[in-house]
Amino acid sequence: MVTQCVCHRVPFAEIKRLAASGMSISAISAQTKCCTGCGMCRPYVFVVLTTGATAIPVLSPRASAELDARLESLLPKGEGKSGTA
Ligand code: FES
Repeated sequence: MVTQCVCHRVPFAEIKRLAASGMSISAISAQTKCCTGCGMCRPYVFVVLTTGATAIPVLSPRASAELDARLESLLPKGEGKSGTA
């Protein structure tokens, strides 16, 4: 199970708590730095935001790509990833 942004050691439970307090994903990312490193947590963060799950089974590469694109749609233009894989 995946439970945190590994790069910045941000538990998904913390992301869920901040989202529930009304913060946008952009604000959460700015505050915690989640999603600003390798980007591998991005599809998982989308799952956290849309389902409330904080322990998520490892996603397939295809599912990761699809969910990453959906997270991108939640970010204001210009705040998405910049060409990282
Ligand atoms: S795991 Fe979150 S940015 Fe790398």
